[in-house]
Amino acid sequence: MEDIDFSPVQHKTWAELYRRQLPKIRKHACAEYVEGFDLLQLPADEIPNLDLLNSRITPATEWTIVRTDTRYTDSDEWYRYFDRKEFLITNYMRSWEELDWTPEPDMFHDIFGHLPFFMLPEYAELQEMFAPAYLASETQEEKENIKRLAWYSTEFGMKREDGELKVFGTGLMSGGDEFTRAAEGKMSYHDFSIENVVGHDKVMYEQHNDLYVIESVDALKAELARYFDPILERAGR
Ligand SMILES: [Fe+2]
Repeated sequence: MEDIDFSPVQHKTWAELYRRQLPKIRKHACAEYVEGFDLLQLPADEIPNLDLLNSRITPATEWTIVRTDTRYTDSDEWYRYFDRKEFLITNYMRSWEELDWTPEPDMFHDIFGHLPFFMLPEYAELQEMFAPAYLASETQEEKENIKRLAWYSTEFGMKREDGELKVFGTGLMSGGDEFTRAAEGKMSYHDFSIENVVGHDKVMYEQHNDLYVIESVDALKAELARYFDPILERAGR
């Protein structure tokens, strides 16, 4: 769809969320996010348009940002976009009343949470692992497991850096209260492993209590490959 104009209230919501999250990410976000954030240079006072985002992201990692007016894109369709290195961002913005937490991913989540990471080739490679495995899956159970592995790593994962817990997940980067609880050690933390995550139901409509911790982006890639490689091999890819 064509890019759209946003209302003054929507820009004001963006600016307030940005103002609130900035000191928290400087203190608690993982090194990759901070590096990508400094490269992407999101505007503080207004919602960035697609041209601006793509002028910075596409040269860096070959991903393209695409706007959608669908509130929840079906997973099969989502991963077909992903497979083409297209990242969908919604045109929905949370209301002023939902500043601290929204159960529905909005454009602040999609842009502020996800896009700084898409400035980094090593992170783009991580994201590029999911679609081929998802599209080669043969059962609903495999698809659900892949979504769960994405959920507890790229969306809601934590990362250990020099013995300290840092925020890795995009859903936490954009989520006020939950970010603080995650960063300040108020949740239960488990090692990220296939066995620990598969079988744990995704928590979608309330805040999390259990989070999974990765040691590095490379370690996460290696762990995901343990689940994805047999699926790809079976499909002859
Ligand atoms: Fe997300």
